[in-house]
Amino acid sequence: MNSPWATTAANFLADPNKQLFIDGKWVPSATGERIETFNPSTGQLLATLARGQKADVDAAVASSRRAFQGHWSSFTPAQRQQLIMQFAELFEKNFEELTLLESLDMGAPLMTRLRPAKNTALQTILYYAAQARNIGGETVSNSLPGKVTSMTLKAPVGVVGGIIPWNGPLFSQMHILGPVLATGCTAVIKPSEEASLAILRTAELLVEAGLPPGVVNVVTGFGSEAGAALAAHPDVNRVAFTGSTGTGREIIKASAGNMKRLQLELGGKSPDIVFADADLDKAVPGVAMGVFSNSGQICFAGTRIFVERKIQAEFVERLGAYSRTLKVGDPLAPDTNLGPLISRRQLDRVLSYLDIGRQEGGELVAGGRRLGGDLAGGYYLEPTIFSNVSNTMTIAREEIFGPVASVIPFDTVEDALALANATEYGLASGVWTTNIDTALKLAHGIEAGTVWVNCYGLVDPAVGFGGYKESGYGWKGGQAQIDGYLYQKAVYINVG
Ligand code: NAI
Ligand code: MG
Repeated sequence: MNSPWATTAANFLADPNKQLFIDGKWVPSATGERIETFNPSTGQLLATLARGQKADVDAAVASSRRAFQGHWSSFTPAQRQQLIMQFAELFEKNFEELTLLESLDMGAPLMTRLRPAKNTALQTILYYAAQARNIGGETVSNSLPGKVTSMTLKAPVGVVGGIIPWNGPLFSQMHILGPVLATGCTAVIKPSEEASLAILRTAELLVEAGLPPGVVNVVTGFGSEAGAALAAHPDVNRVAFTGSTGTGREIIKASAGNMKRLQLELGGKSPDIVFADADLDKAVPGVAMGVFSNSGQICFAGTRIFVERKIQAEFVERLGAYSRTLKVGDPLAPDTNLGPLISRRQLDRVLSYLDIGRQEGGELVAGGRRLGGDLAGGYYLEPTIFSNVSNTMTIAREEIFGPVASVIPFDTVEDALALANATEYGLASGVWTTNIDTALKLAHGIEAGTVWVNCYGLVDPAVGFGGYKESGYGWKGGQAQIDGYLYQKAVYINVG
């Protein structure tokens, strides 16, 4: 990579002063300790991050509280909208650098995944810019004796803790920054220790866009240190978290102290159901990318593939053939479809599930191996398919977060529905059919926050996203999300 952006990105990575971003400035952590962060495509050291801990979180929250009460509180909705639009412009201008940092940091393919998402990312930011002008309560008729006018008012909840995972931080931060800035809240962001760089760079752009210092602070560090301190902080009013269900439970416990509002987007084991009447030319690539995109490191990955028994053999063969056309390799190469897994730890975790799948009797029909040769230094795994899986096997129950698909046969619509719902998760689902009755039956019957019919992975911020069951709670997107960033207050005026 020898574009001017590559130089800017390299300078950013090499700058020892880019540590914690608090009060609009780069500051070192209280202890001065650093964390090493690696490039998953080579296993080499990429940069070091400040190891933020409780004292740093305290400083960041205090800064966000001051900002919440200061100049920022006088911004009108139009001014907040303008600021978000200004940020969108800078995001667009610096998009190549941001996506390069992201790709180096977490391994997503630059040209086939990150860069094509530009318009979606911009549209997401602009959606929240519009939301800034759409905040307000209602006057409500009451049945009280006398003459009483009643209304509801809305007010921003205050300081928000945003805890972000590593599987797509550049884009996933938008769903926190957007509602924070639209509603007039402030935020302390704790990115994942595995992928913090694009978020740190974004914080600088926000200040360049005109955001008052302290409205968005970023504290890097470990989840058990900086993350836990933020989740438990008595002066944080709301936490928005995306990550594992186990960590989600910890955050619920930590929130109890001051009754924080929570939005939790947690794990999944999403069903993707293929009926014999489906258009397989669309279903095969749709199902494959539903599970293999981002090397399977997506919360809504469609990892349980239910296939009507009479087309099972044909479908498995076509899915295997398609998966072999996917190019796994260097995330910076133009034709790479799938990059490495995020870390050695994640690779080992996924490989251990492959062993379990074999032991439990799954039939390995594609992939299954770590890649060697030129790719031996990175954490690359072939897209892997097990067939003849049953819904009760470990690989069909637990979130693997790697490029691993389980194909499970079914016979009837009722059968498919029962199997799809037999999970403690409920994040998303897919249905492939040309029969409208079947599509509607499943759209109503599946216990999950999203049902995609003849498509997979589409998300629009106006529609939103969320989970059933242990996939979390709190809607991300739409008016329901904005309401989560606002207190509601009832006002009664006795007019005599
Ligand atoms: P994680 O859920 O522990 O990490 C997500 C974020 O939470 C990171 O920023 C981390 O630093 C922070 N965190 C960790 N412990 C915390 C605590 N006690 N209090 C507050 N914040 C804390 O996920 P991790 O360890 O990175 O990955 C493990 C597994 O989690 C993956 O294999 C995958 O199955 C699942 N996962 C699911 C995601 C999803 O979108 N559904 C995203 C990332 C991971
Ligand atoms: Mg990294």
